[in-house]
Amino acid sequence: MKYRNFGKLGIQGSAFGLGCMRFNGAASGDSTVDEEKAISLIRRAIDGGVTYIDTAYVYLDKTSEIIVGKALQDGYRDRVTIATKVLADLVHNREEMEAVLDEELKKLQTNHIDFYLMHAINKEKWEYFKSIGAPRFFDDMKKAGKIRYKCFSFHGPYEEFEYIIKDYDWDMCQIQYNFMDIENQAGTRGLELAGSLGIPVVIMEGLLGGRLAKAPENVQALYDAFPVKRSPVEWSFRWLCNHPEIGTVLSGCNEEEQVDDNLRIFDSVEPGIMTEDELKLMADARQAYLSRMKIGCTGCRYCMPCPNGVNIPGIFSAWNDVSLYGVDPAEHFGLKDIRKNGAGADNCVGCGACEAACPQNLSIIDSLQEAWKELG
Ligand SMILES: NC(=O)c1ccc[n+]([C@@H]2O[C@H](COP(=O)([O-])OP(=O)(O)OC[C@H]3O[C@@H](n4cnc5c(N)ncnc54)[C@H](OP(=O)(O)O)[C@@H]3O)[C@@H](O)[C@H]2O)c1
Repeated sequence: MKYRNFGKLGIQGSAFGLGCMRFNGAASGDSTVDEEKAISLIRRAIDGGVTYIDTAYVYLDKTSEIIVGKALQDGYRDRVTIATKVLADLVHNREEMEAVLDEELKKLQTNHIDFYLMHAINKEKWEYFKSIGAPRFFDDMKKAGKIRYKCFSFHGPYEEFEYIIKDYDWDMCQIQYNFMDIENQAGTRGLELAGSLGIPVVIMEGLLGGRLAKAPENVQALYDAFPVKRSPVEWSFRWLCNHPEIGTVLSGCNEEEQVDDNLRIFDSVEPGIMTEDELKLMADARQAYLSRMKIGCTGCRYCMPCPNGVNIPGIFSAWNDVSLYGVDPAEHFGLKDIRKNGAGADNCVGCGACEAACPQNLSIIDSLQEAWKELG
């Protein structure tokens, strides 16, 4: 296992950090986990050199922290740093924040959290956290020794990331990043900004939730033609670890074989490890993925709200996911929500309000019908 610098903190963490958001096939909101198997998987990762364990209050229907707490008995706690989080939706004042933190400490069977994160914030959620006194609360908890580092995880556009990271004395940030997301969310600009401020970056969704683990034919053909043979997972992780700003790359693992594979991969990854040819391969792979894109919707939401309740950007995003990454439409998280909320393209009456507002001049009305048909 390689260990990497955590910017201004002056500490190191394992290049591979274990994400505890899904285990044995159970997704984030699910609690149907084989606990014994999950504990064994966590310990296997730690025995292999992992020192960074990432969980959250809400993962696995609030059971992830309990499982992690059990796995970290028998001396394992002292070998790792724990990251866990608080969601804005769960708290309305200082008392509630303190109650959530105390509950997390109890579930994790520890007297301190190493990395405590405001979970999945954007500008709106950050403003909310500020309005209920969360920054002061984090300062106080750090002084009290209940948390070691004040952190946030981010989902939103770059401009909001820049605003948030400069607005408080953060110790660490966690962003979604992989070779497909260089211009999405915080993106490469966000990663480099954090690096320039000395704020260590932990990566989530390095495999886009597993989507990059299996390459479609046109991408696989590029990997196959390259003189050095590596799996799509290994290419993705090596590309990430090439960036010196990155401390730990989280990987959610369903099976112990995935842990073992990742332990092998992260045993030889260093900043600057990728050759020019390898960087070109990854840029070509990205283009090959993008060539499968159905529609150039950027998710700007100028078309919203639709007067008839159609979730236009959500449908286009699902359409692209299915085509780019081979996601099963029946399993697409966003699409399930759209169906549940009755926000499908079957509500479209062709009024054209969306097309008049679209800065990309997309033929939204026709595309919505095509997408809805293909998504079943
Ligand atoms: N703070 C936040 O807002 C936030 C949001 C998302 C995630 N996270 C954290 O980040 C962690 C990582 O994100 P993630 O789990 O969504 O996505 P990820 O790490 O991009 O993908 C996880 C999936 O990758 C596949 N995988 C991992 N190693 C593999 C290997 N060696 N070979 C083949 N497939 C492999 C597995 O897919 P299969 O399922 O197909 O086996 C696994 O479920 C989470 O566990 C969580 O701790 C935080």
